[in-house]
Amino acid sequence: MAEFRLPRNSRVRDGKTHPAPGGAGRRARFRVYRYDPDSAGTPRLDTYEIDRDRCGPMVLDALIEIKNEIDATLTFRRSCREGICGSCAMNIDGVNTLACTMPIDDVKGDVRVYPLPHMDVVKDLVPDLSGAYEQLASVKPWMRARAPASPGEERPQSPEDREKLDGLYECILCFCCQTSCPSYWWNADRYLGPAVLLQAYRWIVDSRDEATDERLDDLEDPFKLYRCHTIVNCAKACPKRLNPARAIAETKKLMVRRQG
Ligand code: SF4
Ligand code: SF4
Ligand code: FES
Repeated sequence: MAEFRLPRNSRVRDGKTHPAPGGAGRRARFRVYRYDPDSAGTPRLDTYEIDRDRCGPMVLDALIEIKNEIDATLTFRRSCREGICGSCAMNIDGVNTLACTMPIDDVKGDVRVYPLPHMDVVKDLVPDLSGAYEQLASVKPWMRARAPASPGEERPQSPEDREKLDGLYECILCFCCQTSCPSYWWNADRYLGPAVLLQAYRWIVDSRDEATDERLDDLEDPFKLYRCHTIVNCAKACPKRLNPARAIAETKKLMVRRQG
């Protein structure tokens, strides 16, 4: 898989080493990115040795072990611990992925853990996603219909129309794809990026939504959509095996069709 660049404040110095507790059996060494915007220092890489027999099999288990038993100042996001919430997305061994579904055994040698690349860092492994969330809100990722559903009734959808949402509705908004996209690295202020464009397409193709034309009008812009250059890092990075590049290509096709 492709290796991605470091977070924006990327000058990193060696930091503290925390040796494994005495009597540790199987050991693993974690090199973890540390950054505290409230202290003036540059980011550092702290080293933690953990006792594998004391913690679960995933990288997130090790981070929790470090935080609980070695260094309570380490900051990271997590919630579900089963690949559903998207909060534990980070860059592990050079790859954007979910810490809770990444086995420690899949990494050879030291486990290098960084925040998602090319974003500002709030603290340690927590990237600042506020810009990406604003972009997400801009595509109005909810159903827009002129009339409310009749009381007590649902909005029907044929099995064929429902199938069009497969490969889209599963997105957990982890932003692994967004932060792996070179076009997004260079134009994050104007290009919407693969995660947001996949969400936009998810509503464009939903047969129950009645704002398809407005949605396409909103994307008709040299930067918002057309900065995708089909490099496809996004599909390689997605831990749910979705393909944002295909959603973007389908959106472009719809743009062409309605002009023709
Ligand atoms: S295909 Fe488009 S969205 Fe995906 S990584 Fe490449 S430029 Fe970014
Ligand atoms: S498309 Fe995949 S990588 Fe991108 S936000 Fe959704 S789940 Fe994450
Ligand atoms: S903790 Fe929810 S996806 Fe990892």
